[in-house]
Amino acid sequence: MSTFHKTADTFIAGAMTLPQKYYTSAEIFAREKERIFDRYWFCVGHQSRIPNPGDYFVQELLGESLIILRDREGQIRAFYNVCRHRGTRICEQAEGQFKNSIQCSYHAWTYGLDGKLIGAPFMKEIADFRWEDFPLRAAPVRLWEGFIFLNTNLQSEPQPFDELFAPMRGRVSQWNISQLQVTHRERYELAANWKYIFQNFNECYHCPTIHPLLNTMTTYVSAENDLVEGPFLGGFLELKQESMTVTGRTCALPLGQLGAGDEKRGYYYTLLPNLLLNIHPDYIMYHLIFPHAPGRSTIISEWLFHPQAASRPGYNPADAVDFWHETNLQDWHVCELSQQGVQSAAYTPGWYTPRESLLAAFDRDYLKTMGE
Ligand code: FES
Ligand SMILES: [Fe+2]
Repeated sequence: MSTFHKTADTFIAGAMTLPQKYYTSAEIFAREKERIFDRYWFCVGHQSRIPNPGDYFVQELLGESLIILRDREGQIRAFYNVCRHRGTRICEQAEGQFKNSIQCSYHAWTYGLDGKLIGAPFMKEIADFRWEDFPLRAAPVRLWEGFIFLNTNLQSEPQPFDELFAPMRGRVSQWNISQLQVTHRERYELAANWKYIFQNFNECYHCPTIHPLLNTMTTYVSAENDLVEGPFLGGFLELKQESMTVTGRTCALPLGQLGAGDEKRGYYYTLLPNLLLNIHPDYIMYHLIFPHAPGRSTIISEWLFHPQAASRPGYNPADAVDFWHETNLQDWHVCELSQQGVQSAAYTPGWYTPRESLLAAFDRDYLKTMGE
């Protein structure tokens, strides 16, 4: 059973925002890559995006291009989008379906869906060419609640996934997330550091000022958290309406087997380094952050619904999509304003309020992970 704490109860008075360099320095960004991005697991989406063998999508991540596919046995795999012949980018489409193999368009070297090299014109003539030494380079893949995680560090081992994810095991199982379906996707380009997006997500102190509509849906002071320290943080807010939608009504079939009270709550969790999860009684909306540079990030937001949601009379995913799209733009705007302000010589760390205990916790864990 989770234990929930009122937001202010886990606050340590005197906590300050991070110094400027953490949002602006290329050197810090390089250290983040080494200490955080290379050691943790990036979420690249939900398994429902590639339901059938051969289905794939391509994801850019930390300067790399990855092909994420479902193989013939139904297993999800990730490969670097780099041909083993002369290094050419193989896949140019953002998503699609491979028939039975993956072929480079340059000289037709061909790989199985398991990554093995199965065709290379004229190479059979070379006696000592070892075909088994030239599969597509793979990135390790793990699943949690149907979300696909991968690690792109080719130099050393990432943190063991099962150990790292122990605090998340079973925590959101009542929503049956692995069975849900991605129904909508938005992509946003932000001139903001990835941590501003994390931090903004972890407080509703800004809700009355920034989100007039969202603020009618929840009581922001009702926030209670069950993950208050470490790489995973979050909890819930009480809902004043049925769901977080433009109309305030649920717009799809309820998810899973909700425990007592869960149908009156909106849960939020942040999972280092890039998954921000918003759970509602009738749908889930999550953000995937892809950092590019200290002041530049891409966010992909996706909406998950019950697989039979469309069978409910009154099914109206736009009610949820429009609500969050509007809210997201409000959030991204203040993240960009934060980035603009932090670049000023006038910026010095400021005091966190008791409503921002998760941000202080995020910063504490971040500095520890960075070895500071
Ligand atoms: S570079 Fe891919 S087949 Fe030659
Ligand atoms: Fe917000």
